Amino acid sequence: MNDKIAIVTGANRGIGKETARGLAAAGMTVVMACRNLVSARTACEEIISLTRNPDVAVMKLDISSRDSIRNFVEDFKNRYGRLNILINNAGVCTMDHRRTVDNFEPNIGTNYVGTFLLTMQLLPFFEKDAEGRIINLISNIYKIGWFHFDKMHDYRWFRAYAVSKYMVLLFTLELAERLRDSGISVNAVHPGIVRTSIMYTHRWFDHIIKLILSPFFIDVAEGAKQIIHLATAGEATNVSGVYFHKTRRKRIPTCYNSLKLRAALWEYSSSLLKDQPLMERLLKDKAKQ
Ligand SMILES: NC(=O)c1ccc[n+]([C@@H]2O[C@H](COP(=O)([O-])OP(=O)(O)OC[C@H]3O[C@@H](n4cnc5c(N)ncnc54)[C@H](OP(=O)(O)O)[C@@H]3O)[C@@H](O)[C@H]2O)c1
Repeated sequence: MNDKIAIVTGANRGIGKETARGLAAAGMTVVMACRNLVSARTACEEIISLTRNPDVAVMKLDISSRDSIRNFVEDFKNRYGRLNILINNAGVCTMDHRRTVDNFEPNIGTNYVGTFLLTMQLLPFFEKDAEGRIINLISNIYKIGWFHFDKMHDYRWFRAYAVSKYMVLLFTLELAERLRDSGISVNAVHPGIVRTSIMYTHRWFDHIIKLILSPFFIDVAEGAKQIIHLATAGEATNVSGVYFHKTRRKRIPTCYNSLKLRAALWEYSSSLLKDQPLMERLLKDKAKQ
């Protein structure tokens, strides 16, 4: 794994931090793509001292901002220029109604739009002759994530979170299909109900969650297990376009895997890339390799 370069978004805490630790322990070069640089640097030092792998670094990324994504990609190009593994982990489940700087509902703008834009702009850096892996964090509540494009700004909190994760699932399936035979696998993982701060809302009912529900949550080590496995295991190349519920491969009911909806979401998302390097060209290049 010593020659592999991995990016983990939102790696300063929670599942992302544990995943970064796991990949560093496997000997990879790990880029922790985080918006909170103070806690990211502390987490980075901790990971280096735990794993004795000095090739772990922090880079600035606010995934809810198009400009920040563009700057991150530019920086990454200059510092590393090649990529093997992308873990799209950064995410929120927020009640905050304020839109992102790019005018999206915050759950959708962070969890889906940011993931889409970052992934598409990083595709050219996946190495030609080496296999690549993209792992997207989703949630099993995607099943309540039905959405309409004209209502994108109307969804709130938990519903918006579910919509965003359903979108990431559809994106995973579509990208896996489009990258078939390119050597890049794309899979989605629901990590389980993990004891992290995303489970809390900073409202009075946090006490109830803490007292009654949290004993049933799993810890980050267990939550990150399948992500680390997919990123490091030799046989992972054989699977793409698969949804894992923790470590189990799960079938996606046909009603959630509409080719029409996938195509519509692809078209909608592609329009967001209009001023970016042309995605279709990137995909064609990948397919040729
Ligand atoms: N915990 C669960 O039970 C569960 C279940 C299903 C899926 N998931 C998914 O697992 C992923 C990780 O969640 P977690 O449980 O580890 O939650 P967490 O502890 O709250 O961690 C979320 C991470 O995402 C980062 N992040 C949020 N917005 C960002 C932005 N705009 N730019 C860059 N980084 C950003 C956070 O950074 P800051 O410190 O800067 O906020 C933090 O590092 C999420 O995608 C979540 O939806 C979690």
